[in-house]
Amino acid sequence: MTFPVSKHVAAMRGSSTLIAAAAAADMRERGIDVIDMSVGEPDFDTPEFIKQYAWEGLKKGLTKYTATAGMADYRSAIVEFYASRFGADIKVAEVAASCGGKQALFNAACTLLNPGDDVLIPKPYWVTFPEIVTFCGANSVFIETEQTDFILTADQVAAAITDKTKLLIINSPSNPSGRVIPPDEMRRIVEVCAARGVYVMTDECYLFFAYPPAEPFSLASLPDELREYVCVAGSFSKTYAMTGWRAGYTIANEAWTKAMVKLQSHSATHPTSFVQYACAKALRNQDETMAAVSAMTAEYERRRNWLIPALNEVNGFKCAMPEGAFYAFVDVRGLLGAEFTASADVADKLLRDAHIVVTDGAGFGADGFLRFSYATSLENLERAVDAMKLMFGVKAVPA
Ligand SMILES: Cc1ncc(COP(=O)(O)O)c(C=O)c1O
Repeated sequence: MTFPVSKHVAAMRGSSTLIAAAAAADMRERGIDVIDMSVGEPDFDTPEFIKQYAWEGLKKGLTKYTATAGMADYRSAIVEFYASRFGADIKVAEVAASCGGKQALFNAACTLLNPGDDVLIPKPYWVTFPEIVTFCGANSVFIETEQTDFILTADQVAAAITDKTKLLIINSPSNPSGRVIPPDEMRRIVEVCAARGVYVMTDECYLFFAYPPAEPFSLASLPDELREYVCVAGSFSKTYAMTGWRAGYTIANEAWTKAMVKLQSHSATHPTSFVQYACAKALRNQDETMAAVSAMTAEYERRRNWLIPALNEVNGFKCAMPEGAFYAFVDVRGLLGAEFTASADVADKLLRDAHIVVTDGAGFGADGFLRFSYATSLENLERAVDAMKLMFGVKAVPA
């Protein structure tokens, strides 16, 4: 019997990032020493004091349902944190808890989009964005950004908006490109959207992974008249090395927040009670929490500074310096021709012959590129680059 999967779910594609992770797991199971550069999560453990907060929450008996929008303490800790870090003026009623950033994005899209709406998504995009749009029965309209080095501009957005456009999805620092849209440009993008009645969903999952001179910038800090059009999808996953805790939140106008809470009341209800407790305590203990975040960020930056020039020495590789996140997005079109017809073939050769797992750019809307994660040790990165230099050769003059 064939199971009659619903049309909206059947139309969604599986995650290409998970396909790479599955290939790595399969090789490991066969006893192969794999260098996994496909990982989308920190290689650091959650800071010990945050784990202790969760235990404290359990001991306090926080083992029952909370409000669907999240514990009052969780929501007000987020309000205070954004006020202190970004000068944001948001109200508790504009914040709702979600199970990770992914549910925040789903809640935001499902409460706004109707079938037939157009959604602008800059390329390259995080794999989940177009799939959420498909699930809602809306249409993804992609914006090419290669001519601006993968950094979206307000002009590109203005040129792409039509009467059918309902939403723009942005993600800065970006997965997969690691590029960061400068704050002034972000603001101009929202101004262009607001003037045309287009909403903006901003995925701030990698908010604090911006390397100097780039700085963390949240759209939650915009004035109310612009914020009216914005939904911030926030996440504890990457910033605090808490991917498994499933803690996230939205910051959006009150009506949008109410709709999201209504939707969530019929799905996940809320993120785990003692996780909310631990997250609230972590945000309130800003000194210790941000010291832990800075230490992790400094290590990612150290790896980035080594990795990007090293990758640019490999024949056929070209990679711009990413300002944020923990990914290098490498243009391998220089290798296409006789042996390889697509970047997927290059990824396949790396996997088969060097046991290096990377993610093909096609799943991010950028065939010809490969995504290398540096959420792995410098030693692994060095081994990987050595193997790639052997495989493809070294440029006579580095790019
Ligand atoms: C851009 C982006 N947004 C959201 C997420 C999901 O985050 P969470 O674990 O908070 O659901 C990821 C995870 O890889 C991501 O890369």
